[in-house]
Amino acid sequence: MALGTIGVCGAGMMGSEIALVFALADHKVRLMDMDQAYVDKAMAKLEKTLDGGIGRGFYAEEDKPRALANITTSTDVSGYGDCDLVIEAITEDEAAKGDLYKKLDEVLKDSCIIASNTSSISISVLSSYFSEKRHSRFLGLHFFSPVSRMKLVEVIRGFDVSDEAVEIATEAVKVIGKTPITVKDVVGFAVNRVLFAMWNEAIRLVEEGACTPEDVDIGCKLGLGHPVGPFELMDNISLDLTLKVSDILQDAYGERFHTRPTVKHLMAAGRVGRRGGRGWHRYDEKGKKVG
Ligand SMILES: NC(=O)c1ccc[n+]([C@@H]2O[C@H](COP(=O)([O-])OP(=O)(O)OC[C@H]3O[C@@H](n4cnc5c(N)ncnc54)[C@H](O)[C@@H]3O)[C@@H](O)[C@H]2O)c1
Repeated sequence: MALGTIGVCGAGMMGSEIALVFALADHKVRLMDMDQAYVDKAMAKLEKTLDGGIGRGFYAEEDKPRALANITTSTDVSGYGDCDLVIEAITEDEAAKGDLYKKLDEVLKDSCIIASNTSSISISVLSSYFSEKRHSRFLGLHFFSPVSRMKLVEVIRGFDVSDEAVEIATEAVKVIGKTPITVKDVVGFAVNRVLFAMWNEAIRLVEEGACTPEDVDIGCKLGLGHPVGPFELMDNISLDLTLKVSDILQDAYGERFHTRPTVKHLMAAGRVGRRGGRGWHRYDEKGKKVG
């Protein structure tokens, strides 16, 4: 089944770039958020992403008008009845996602494949907010940030998803130039379990006074070949999301994923990461690391 129109819900950091990668692959894309100001801001940011990509040879000049023309924006899902695939990337809040799914349930065509980009909420639980006829077509598509650069997508199978829906979604991931891996609906999926296990050890090193965050970042980049150090990455994705996912992993796996106290202390002190100017590191008003 060739997919035509793609719907994306949530025009934040993830949703806007998910819209972009499908638009670049010549899909018509619907992108919505709660407020027109948010979608306008997302479109302005996509223009900058494209300009930066053209400057560095990632995109051709003509990709920019072509991709932007493929995206239409809205503040609700009433026009989503023609979508073949809808990807939800709104705030990580089960109740908010559930409310949106009830609206989508009313407008989507029966054949539509529906995916959540959730980092930490069970796909089978999210599926239950849809009427039963849609459970076989609901799954997780877990993209990585920044979506325009990161090649991996975890395809998450919930209890009732059909093989056909997984195949269609997997093909869609390949069409946009990403590489899918299939993971069961276990808490944290695959990559975040590996990542948070490593992050906890990195934070322990700092808590023990064995290393500074800067030195652990350098160690992981130069010794392990990681493109970004663990503390820089936590700051990039934000300390509030780090804390939220860490707590969910702790609930599921106990001591193996005990949330480190310093993450809670940083959050309590308002150090949310790069977007707030301070997390493990300091950032200037343009988001450049300065210490
Ligand atoms: N940030 C990451 O690195 C990352 C990585 C993988 C997955 N995710 C997941 O992707 C999702 C989005 O994360 P993000 O980092 O883009 O968050 P974000 O805060 O940047 O964007 C979320 C957007 O959703 C919008 N929104 C909230 N409720 C809405 C509703 N009812 N209808 C329409 N829009 C609504 C908000 O206005 C906001 O613009 C979350 O589920 C998150 O767990 C995030």
